[in-house]
Amino acid sequence: MNNEKNQSNLKQTELSIELKNLFDSAKIASENAYSPYSHFKVGAAILCKNGKQFTGCNIENASFGGTICAERVAICKAVSENEKEFTAIAVYVQSEKLFPPCGMCRQFMVEFSTDMIVIYGNEQYLEISNIGELLPESFKL
Ligand code: THU
Repeated sequence: MNNEKNQSNLKQTELSIELKNLFDSAKIASENAYSPYSHFKVGAAILCKNGKQFTGCNIENASFGGTICAERVAICKAVSENEKEFTAIAVYVQSEKLFPPCGMCRQFMVEFSTDMIVIYGNEQYLEISNIGELLPESFKL
């Protein structure tokens, strides 16, 4: 196992205070999920370089394509407040299975940072990665 992999499957107690706090914010945000179709509750929290945090939850729509993921809601809230420099994003899923961010959210993240830390987890476990690892050779103009 290399060092990168040693960082995986961390118990939440092993995370730095700042990132633990971000993950806790994502968990709280998941309570606001509007997901009457999938019943999948997701929360996200993004950390700006200046220390500010913005949260988001998934918001579904009867016209399914109108659904937006928690990660993109958090990023849109930050960008709409003129915050565009990010260090980390945490994603919490109310599920027993761990899910990494979807492809569209990865593309959304890489628009603003190529080295953002990405934490995703549930009540038991979390993974810590970064956007470069999750979306190598990303599309950029
Ligand atoms: N979802 C997210 O919020 N983030 C992801 O990265 C993947 C999927 C949401 C969208 C939808 O409301 C539900 O999870 C099922 O796809």
